Amino acid sequence: MQSAQNAGVPAGQWSSRFAFLMAAIGSSVGLGNIWKFPYMIGTSGGSAFMLVYLTCVMAVGLPILMAELALGRMGRQGPIDTLVSLGRRYTGKAGWGAIACLGVLAAVLILSFYSVVAGWSLAYIPKLLTGQMSGLSGEQTAATFGALLADPWALAFWHALFMLLTIIPVARGIQAGIEKAVVWMMPLLFALLVFLVLYAAVEGDFAAGMVYLFKPDFEAITMDVVLAATGQAFFSLSVGLGTMLAYGAYLPGHVSIPRTSVVIVFAAILTAVLAGGAIFPIVFANGLNPSEGPGLVFVTLPVAFGAMPGGALVGTVFFMLLAIAALTSSVSLLEPIVAAFASRTRLSRTALAWTGGLVTWALGFLTLFSFNIWSDVHPLGGTRTWFDWIDYLTSNILLPVGGVLLALFAGWIVTRADSVQALGFRNPLLYRLWHLLVRVVAPIGVVVTVISNIA
Ligand code: PFF
Repeated sequence: MQSAQNAGVPAGQWSSRFAFLMAAIGSSVGLGNIWKFPYMIGTSGGSAFMLVYLTCVMAVGLPILMAELALGRMGRQGPIDTLVSLGRRYTGKAGWGAIACLGVLAAVLILSFYSVVAGWSLAYIPKLLTGQMSGLSGEQTAATFGALLADPWALAFWHALFMLLTIIPVARGIQAGIEKAVVWMMPLLFALLVFLVLYAAVEGDFAAGMVYLFKPDFEAITMDVVLAATGQAFFSLSVGLGTMLAYGAYLPGHVSIPRTSVVIVFAAILTAVLAGGAIFPIVFANGLNPSEGPGLVFVTLPVAFGAMPGGALVGTVFFMLLAIAALTSSVSLLEPIVAAFASRTRLSRTALAWTGGLVTWALGFLTLFSFNIWSDVHPLGGTRTWFDWIDYLTSNILLPVGGVLLALFAGWIVTRADSVQALGFRNPLLYRLWHLLVRVVAPIGVVVTVISNIA
């Protein structure tokens, strides 16, 4: 534990398997599953996207998640130090730490836009609470959302508030800050999502929503859909940048990594499907546009909240929980940034959390302005705004590449005997399947997808 302390990571472990699970689920379940997944389905091929996403999660995301947790527990330090020391142990070289540096870059970039979007859900809390959105049509909710995006000052305020909420628990440390919050908030979020699906089933066009989500449409599967779904698999599980490596460092030795990983993946898929199940029936019942893009959740659900009895309250609670789900993910983005610098500078954990948070907050203005004064600015030509580029670069390139490098490290560099022990599969066949996936299947699949898209 001493080395972990040196790395600026508070000594100690999650107090229980349940606490770890809630924190890991808290990291993976966030805006990615509730905000991004539904709108990606809408913009990237409907059920075809769903099909490819599920395949990627099982064949690529799950085995890499296991690899990350196992490497983290083996190293028991911040992500960079873990890879440096494991790299030295197995190859005599320290350069493996570079993989985690790539991860830190990805974490900074993701957190910069994540905080802006999470700010939207904070902004919606007073809107719903005060009844401003009661009884609105789809057109009117779209106008409300448009007005929010058009106001850089308001966005900057909510973005700053969210970043502040992220910095505080990270500065306080894993157990005191993160654990206490997640153990009761995540179950509440699930319960509310189930309620919204039931509501959508009764009041929305449930059949149309289900067809849109689940009716297989193999013809719509294009290389673009595959890349988008691959990126989303990494993003929604929080794998590829070292978050799970950082969290694995606190994982008690007796906890089963395979079983825990399956639970995390199941929770991520379930949330995404529930979010889709709540949103699309409302979209179709109200003649809204499923390809609306990043505003989808913010335009559709308020229509439902505005129409149901007690909707102002339910809507308020929903956006609070969305912000909280985002918070349990954003702390997991700031944590590896802090851990990475802790052993390399003399700064305290608190100073690092503030510095990392402020730098990332400033970078967030690239995203923030993409929705208003810079909406016509297309760096590198084409149609992508700054936000589109940051999102594309992180989800579709940095996370998949980082994830594959970690998979290769766990599959080829760590010895078989050590990985058998680190993962603790009961069934040797399942271990072999994992080994095949991280050594061959995931790397080839991801590299082919990424290269064919860049080309
Ligand atoms: N998985 C989070 C979400 O779906 O909202 C986002 C995320 C968190 C991505 C942490 C990557 C990460 F390391």
